[in-house]
Amino acid sequence: MAMAELSTPKTTSPFLNSSSRLRLSSKLHLSNHFRHLLLPPLHTTTPNSKISCSVSQNSQAPVAVQENGLEEETRSWKKLINIAVSGAAGMISNHLLFKLASGEVFGPDQPIALKLLGSERSIQALEGVAMELEDSLFPLLREVDIGTDPNEVFQDVEWAILIGAKPRGPGMERADLLDINGQIFAEQGKALNKAASPNVKVLVVGNPCNTNALICLKNAPNIPAKNFHALTRLDENRAKCQLALKAGVFYDKVSNMTIWGNHSTTQVPDFLNARINGLPVKEVITDHKWLEEGFTESVQKRGGLLIQKWGRSSAASTAVSIVDAIKSLVTPTPEGDWFSTGVYTDGNPYGIEEGLVFSMPCRSKGDGDYELVKDVEIDDYLRQRIAKSEAELLAEKRCVAHLTGEGIAYCDLGPVDTMLPGEV
Ligand code: LMR
Repeated sequence: MAMAELSTPKTTSPFLNSSSRLRLSSKLHLSNHFRHLLLPPLHTTTPNSKISCSVSQNSQAPVAVQENGLEEETRSWKKLINIAVSGAAGMISNHLLFKLASGEVFGPDQPIALKLLGSERSIQALEGVAMELEDSLFPLLREVDIGTDPNEVFQDVEWAILIGAKPRGPGMERADLLDINGQIFAEQGKALNKAASPNVKVLVVGNPCNTNALICLKNAPNIPAKNFHALTRLDENRAKCQLALKAGVFYDKVSNMTIWGNHSTTQVPDFLNARINGLPVKEVITDHKWLEEGFTESVQKRGGLLIQKWGRSSAASTAVSIVDAIKSLVTPTPEGDWFSTGVYTDGNPYGIEEGLVFSMPCRSKGDGDYELVKDVEIDDYLRQRIAKSEAELLAEKRCVAHLTGEGIAYCDLGPVDTMLPGEV
């Protein structure tokens, strides 16, 4: 996925509050609120509810004053959940955070606390983000914390969305990128292991996201490996868009779309098992050459094309796909459908090598967990393509063996062996 702010591994800064009403009021009032179910949402429409709001470090702790009984509105709210976002001052986060805070992702009865991780370089920007979140008066957003130390930011988080990663610079070898970003994700894996809720769900967005997710999970042995995801939902969405355009149908008519493999140019958008209006894609789109070549390549290289047009990586659509990816885990998958996410391959029924993070078709009961879909057809065309993406991920894994505790790294990736969508 597109890159955002780099979280600095070693920090001298303490954990910083945004000094906001959200943070302060949570400490002063909200824990009581959730115990006693007394306070209304902070932006309640009643003219009698007063909120003072300031991000100034020296300001008085803001207070929400309840002057009439609105407890009914919050009585049915769920228990607050803590959500960490790294690279929080970056473009993707700037789209994502407001969706999280609005309730679009976890639902209108789910209050949240946002824990924003950034680098020391980005701390001012992070304060700006916190200010904008405050000024948006989201009733479900009960707390915003910002900080540069993952050990503190990840404390008790139930969800971690890891966006921050270093982009590949001019002249930087792929192996260097894997190493630099791998160190960040190794550190963040350790921090999650130490500080996060034991059943935390982790979505890795920073590229190369599959291998970063692998590094992260290997450094977090106390957290189930199954809980780690690499974001390939953007690729799924891109594939659905291309098929819908070609077939002349609306996007929601395309279902059962699997992205197999790596979030890279070896990814395999599976038109064999996908459906349009409930029919096999190949029955609806009879131009099979286009499916094998044009379609496949357009999905694989969509990120690169977008960079050429925009001059930067996808941000808004990536944020949307993060929302989709999480919603797919917290809402039951529609009957007969599935979604794609990069998950740990141990125990997979497709014959893919174990010990990788690989995008595969999944279903969820809506409890945050998922199961792999078993009844998919894999023909020779798919098998060969999947094997190529598998080989690429195995090569990436060899490059980061020093970060996964699997021995000495040996990196034999050529310059074009493995490309992010944005590198083409
Ligand atoms: C994307 O798919 O849009 C990004 O991963 C591209 C990139 O390399 O940042």
